[in-house]
Amino acid sequence: MIITSADTRGATPPETRAPILEARRLVKTFGRVVGLDGVSLQLYPGEVLAIIGDNGAGKSTLVKCLTGAEIPDEGELFLEGKPVSFKRPQDARIKGIETVYQNLAVSPALDVASNLYLGREERRKGVLGSVFRMLDTKGMRARAKSELSSLGISTLQDVTVPVENLSGGQRQAVAVARAAAFGSKVVVLDEPTAALGVRESNQVLQLIRDLRERGLPVILISHNMPQVFDVADRIHIQRLGKCAATITPQSHSMTDAVAIMTGAAKA
Ligand SMILES: Nc1ncnc2c1ncn2[C@@H]1O[C@H](COP(=O)(O)OP(=O)(O)OP(=O)(O)O)[C@@H](O)[C@H]1O
Ligand SMILES: [Mg+2]
Repeated sequence: MIITSADTRGATPPETRAPILEARRLVKTFGRVVGLDGVSLQLYPGEVLAIIGDNGAGKSTLVKCLTGAEIPDEGELFLEGKPVSFKRPQDARIKGIETVYQNLAVSPALDVASNLYLGREERRKGVLGSVFRMLDTKGMRARAKSELSSLGISTLQDVTVPVENLSGGQRQAVAVARAAAFGSKVVVLDEPTAALGVRESNQVLQLIRDLRERGLPVILISHNMPQVFDVADRIHIQRLGKCAATITPQSHSMTDAVAIMTGAAKA
């Protein structure tokens, strides 16, 4: 990889800062299957933390435990230093953690704007909203449009089209845009580019960089090594339910990372 002078990743040693989100010794079992076996993780302000690992290594289970989609059997979670426990994804969302799960959660029949505001619809002002529960559709569409364009998602100008009419990449963009628009503390993306073409993947990667520019830390799960090495500040490697190592694109090569991932080498 070529590191240009503009590449400031890893400029501040993360250990000198307090983590925004921290997990300590998470354990999650599914019957006899051990999904997570005592995994700790720190996410620091303004960093992109990639999580890599083979299929079944526990990546999705880990982020689900961080975001309320699964409840860990053991272990602790801290958000900005305070202990938190999430019983459902909504609990984490209220605290500013937005997640795009691996099995994409958009509602195909709804339009783009409605998907962006799913679960947090805005009501009309006054009695129309408070008594008659009328939605502020116009307002939501206008804000959805400006949100998408401020995120640089230009292929999605018509926010009134149903999501089922969009391409896979555009759908993914809606899900990522929703997370980016509402995540006030942390954005978590589980395989956001797996279904995307080159152009859309690059757009999502740019979005991730933009989020970092805005100071928002991102957790990115990906199998795509070049993308991970391109965008990540640090890389958490999961192997067989455990964290095998935490490395940086500067400290290790892609070959090193794959070797740690598969157990062929230690960090
Ligand atoms: N709901 C569940 N019920 C039973 N087993 C599960 C469940 N969720 C995960 N597991 C198991 O836990 C382990 C970790 O799964 P997980 O989905 O976290 O892996 P992953 O690293 O995200 O894999 P992939 O790269 O394929 O997405 C696997 O052995 C999986 O079969
Ligand atoms: Mg997964």
